[in-house]
Amino acid sequence: MKTLGYYNGKIAELEEMTVPMLDRACYFGDGVYDVAVCRNHRTFALEEHLDRFMNSCKLLHITPDHTKEELAELVAGLLAKMDSGDQLVYLQYSRGSALRNHTFAADMKPNLWIMIKPLTLQKEPKPLRCMTMEDTRFFHCNIKTINLIPNVLAAQAAEDRGLDECIFHRGNEITECAHSNVSILKGGVLLTHPTDNLILPGIARAHLIRACRALGIAVKERPFTLEELFDADEILVTSTTKLLCPVVELDGKAVGGKDQKNLAALRSYVWEEYERETN
Ligand code: PDD
Repeated sequence: MKTLGYYNGKIAELEEMTVPMLDRACYFGDGVYDVAVCRNHRTFALEEHLDRFMNSCKLLHITPDHTKEELAELVAGLLAKMDSGDQLVYLQYSRGSALRNHTFAADMKPNLWIMIKPLTLQKEPKPLRCMTMEDTRFFHCNIKTINLIPNVLAAQAAEDRGLDECIFHRGNEITECAHSNVSILKGGVLLTHPTDNLILPGIARAHLIRACRALGIAVKERPFTLEELFDADEILVTSTTKLLCPVVELDGKAVGGKDQKNLAALRSYVWEEYERETN
C-alpha cells in the first residue's frame, strides 16, 4: 500500500477512509495522538512514543483497549503492508463515539485511528528560517473552535461532583463557564466580562445585555473577581440551550438570591422574546 488508514480494525488507503460523525474527535477534538517515524519497516523509538501515548490517554481519562505490546504488534503488521519501509506513523485514540454532550460516560469504548504515510528523514536537513510569536495557545476562547478539551474536562469534573456547570477564573478574574457565559447582578447593575479573546461572545449573553437595556438595568462590560462572584446579588449563566439561568450554589456555598425582582424580569424578558420569535 502507498498510504494506510486504520480505524477500529478497518484498513484502506487513507483517501478511502472515513470516520463516523459521532466520533468525539470530530466535534470536540477529544482525543490524543502520537507520531513516530519508521525506516526500513522499523519504527524508531516506538517504546517511548507508546509510553507517551499511553500517558496522554491516562491524563485525559481515556481507557485504551490495547496494551502497548498489542499496539506495537499492530503497527508492525500494518507497516509490513507498505510498499516503502520509510513512513510516518500517526496513532490516535479518540474518547469514543456518542451524541454530542460535553460530559462522557466513564466506560466509553475508545476509537483507535492509525495513519501511515511516506516520509524519509534527511541526513542533512535544510537549515530553518523562522519568526517569533507570543505564545497565545489557550487564549483563543473567542473562537467557537471544536478543540474543547479543557471545557470537556471541566464539564465532566462538575458532573462528577453532581453539579451542573463549572465557572472558570484566570487568577482572580472570572471569564466564562465550561459551556456557557456568566454575568452577575450587583446593586442593580449587570457586570459581565467584555468580549475579548478570553470568552466566547455568547448569543444568549448578548440577548441578556439587550434585555437589561430594555428594562433599564445598567450594564458594565468589565471583568469581575471571584470575590465579586461570591458576593453577587445574582449570578446569571447564559447559553443557547438554557437562555438565562440563576446560580444558587457555588463551591458548596449558597449564592445569589438577593435580586429576585430583576432576575424574574430578565428571565421573563428573554423567555418571551424566545417564544415570540419561535411562534
Ligand atoms: N455552548 N461559552 C462557551 C465556552 C460555550 O461553549 C457556550 C455555548 C457559550 C454560550 O454561547 P451561546 O450563548 O452563543 O450559546 C459560552 C454551547 C451551547 C455548546 O457548546 O453546546
